[in-house]
This record gives sequence, structure tokens and C-alpha cells, in this order.
Amino acid sequence: MSHNSRLIINGGQSLHGTVRCSGAKNAALPILAACLMVQGDYIVHNVPNLADIRIMVRMLKALGVHAEYLSSGSVRISNSGSIKHIAPYELVTSMRASFFVAGPLLAQTLHAKVPLPGGCAIGARPLDLHLKGFKALGVDVSIEHGFVDMKASSLKGASICLDFPSVGATENVMMAAALSDGETVISNAAREPEIVDLAEFLIQAGAVITGLGSSTITIQGVPELKGADYAVMPDRIEAGTFLMAGAITQGDVTVEGISKEPLEACIQKYTEMGLGVEHAENSVRVFYKEPYRSVSIETMPYPGFPTDMQAQMMALLVLVDGVSMIKETIFENRFMHANELMRMGANIQVDSQCAIITGVSQLTGAEVKMTDLRAGAALILAGLAAVGDTYIYDLFHLERGYEGFTDKLIELGAQIR
Ligand code: UD1
Repeated sequence: MSHNSRLIINGGQSLHGTVRCSGAKNAALPILAACLMVQGDYIVHNVPNLADIRIMVRMLKALGVHAEYLSSGSVRISNSGSIKHIAPYELVTSMRASFFVAGPLLAQTLHAKVPLPGGCAIGARPLDLHLKGFKALGVDVSIEHGFVDMKASSLKGASICLDFPSVGATENVMMAAALSDGETVISNAAREPEIVDLAEFLIQAGAVITGLGSSTITIQGVPELKGADYAVMPDRIEAGTFLMAGAITQGDVTVEGISKEPLEACIQKYTEMGLGVEHAENSVRVFYKEPYRSVSIETMPYPGFPTDMQAQMMALLVLVDGVSMIKETIFENRFMHANELMRMGANIQVDSQCAIITGVSQLTGAEVKMTDLRAGAALILAGLAAVGDTYIYDLFHLERGYEGFTDKLIELGAQIR
């Protein structure tokens, strides 16, 4: 998809029907990285077909793992244990999540040389917590010529308290510790379900990890990991985005393939706003029943309201009578969608971490630009509800994180070209 590609949405259709949730990007990426330290022949299933995933598959190949994306949404892995330790510049700089290879490379080869990463422009996103964790395990870290060079003579279990429950740092340290000598305890660990999914993949391969889903994770190092087939968990952010698409068009949308638990914080807000919500064991439905009420939202580490749903929620609140407030506490530059929404008629005041949203009765189609992945989803939602045509540019952001997004919306009745 080129940087100039665009979508045209003819707004005003209410969405109805059922869509199936894809595999979680944020679980598939660290699991694929972990394949560097999990030997044998096995298949990772339910991997979404996304630009970021294709980068990670290329990364595995560049580092010595035979990895092949099968058209069925599975990645076939063959890892003989002979792994290189230098991650290629062009892959790392196009995706921040490529830094996930650092922990597995250290575990497998005791050496990782990884360029400083790139990725979405939603904040500074430093690596200090990852590096602090590696250092505690006995790794020497130096940053030179744009590379982070990490070396150890052996990895030794340690107690690590994270200053902030970073998702990536928790995952990286957990992976490095899985093949270390002795016991590692990560306290103030992040509790996101994707971390639990990664750990379950490692446990199936022979890792010893306890405390999953809590803020203290304990890892007993083992000498080696041997892989078996594994299916990645469903994407809760994708599911939440489709439920919002139903809500913003006052429709009735069911997402299949996900339970309500990982969506709890979102569902509570939907209910508070007056949306109808129903769930079964493996599906969640959102439907219009009464005019929506304004709410206040603060993004938090899991189980709080996810920062990855903040932009989509803002798109919805823009059309809700009254004054809503969103406080973004995770990333410092994650309101870029507010400017674009204002071009469509929204009334939003941004003051550093806070956005004050005064509801308007309608949005009008305009030309707008995606600034990052979730901002892109928010603009599409706004376009679905707007009067007239919305032209959305820079679609490559969407391609990074939503599998078949527009096709699924069209199935629900959206008019998108
Ligand atoms: C992951 C998700 C991303 C989500 C985010 C927060 C993946 C691939 N991405 O990103 O979609 O928005 O969690 O839920 O899983 N920080 C530091 N030092 C560090 C690491 C992080 O200060 O060493 C800060 C970041 O700048 C940010 C905050 O911690 O402000 C949260 O980052 P983190 O939880 O690490 O997010 P990611 O793992 O990058």
C-alpha cells in the first residue's frame, strides 16, 4: 500500500451483523520473536496477515530461523539453534516491536546487536526499562553508532522491579530470563493478556513461569526450549474497534472469537455510556438502545482502559451530547487524531495529557490523514458516522495493525471505496 493511497467513506450507514476477530498483533509479534529461542519444527497459528507481522517474519529469516507465512494465517517455523545476533537496520527501524528480538537473542546467543527502533510517532518510547532489566540479568549494554549492543558471559536470574509496568520490557526480560541460570522475579510487571499468551507459548516449550496476569512474574531458567504448535489469542483491540464501529453508527455489531474478559474495561465504559452490551462464551455484541451519555476516561496499564482504544473512543465521544474528558497517561503524544477529528467538525480542546470533548450533533466528511495506527481507526469510525464523503490518506498505518479492516466493515454494511 503506497503512502498516497486513500479511502473514501460514504458515511451515515448503520452497521449490522457479525465479524470474526483476527489473531492479536501484539501477542503474535513477541511470540514470533520468541521463536528465536524455541527450537524445533512447529507452527504458530492464528497469526494476522499484517505489515508488522511480515517484518517480523523477515527478521526471523535474517537471524537464521526458517520462517514461512502460510496463506492459512499460520507461520511455519524451523529453528535448528544456529542463530545470528545482529538485527538488520532496515527491519528494526520500520517497527518498534522488532526490539522484541533482543531478549530471545540474549537468551539464545548471549549477544544481541539491535539498531535503535522506529515505529508509530506517538511518543518518545525509550528502552531504559528493557535495558535495566537486561543489566540486572548480567548483560553489558552499550549504545554506539545507532546500535544497542548487549553481551553477557552468562545470564543469571535476578530480582527486577520495573519503574513502570511496560508491556515490552516485561516481555523482553521474561524471554531473556527463561533460559538463564536460576530464578528471576519481575515485580511491577505489566499484566496485559498478550504477555500471558507469550508466556503460555514459552511454557508449552518447557519454560517455567508463574504469576502470570499478576504484577509479580517468577521465571525459573531452563537450559533449552523445544517448540510445539500454538494458536495466538484473539485481538482485543480489533474487537473493541469493531464494537465501536457498531456504536458510532447506532447499529448492532457482534464480534465472534473473543470472550468478554479481555474487553472488560471497554465494556464498562460502553455500559456507562448507555450502549447495549451482551456477551456469550465466545462473542461480544454491542447495540444501540438509547442516546449515549458523556463519560470520563483515563488510559491505564491493563486491566485499566487501554491506550490502544483511546482514539476510537474519542471518535465516538465527539458525537455524544455533553462534555467528556479523556486523560492519556501512557503515551505523551497520542492526541494527533484530535486535530483531524476537528477538521470533520468535532469540538475538542487538548491540554497536554487531557482532551476535553464537547459533543456536536453531527460530523461532516472532510479530507483527513492517518497519523498512527489507532488514530487511523478512529478516523474511519468518524467517517462512518459523518454526513457525506470522508477522504482518508496515509492508509499504510492501518495495514500495520488491522487485518482486512475495510473488507470486514463492508461486510457489516459500510460504504467504503
Ligand atoms: C505495547 C503495545 C502497544 C500499546 C502499549 C501500551 C505491542 C507490540 N505494542 O507497546 O500497542 O500501546 O504496549 O499498552 O505490544 N517506556 C519507558 N521505558 C521503556 C519502555 C517503555 O519509559 O523502556 C514507556 C513508554 O515510553 C510509554 C510507556 O512506557 O510511555 C508504555 O510503553 P510500553 O508498555 O513499553 O509499550 P510498548 O511495549 O512499546
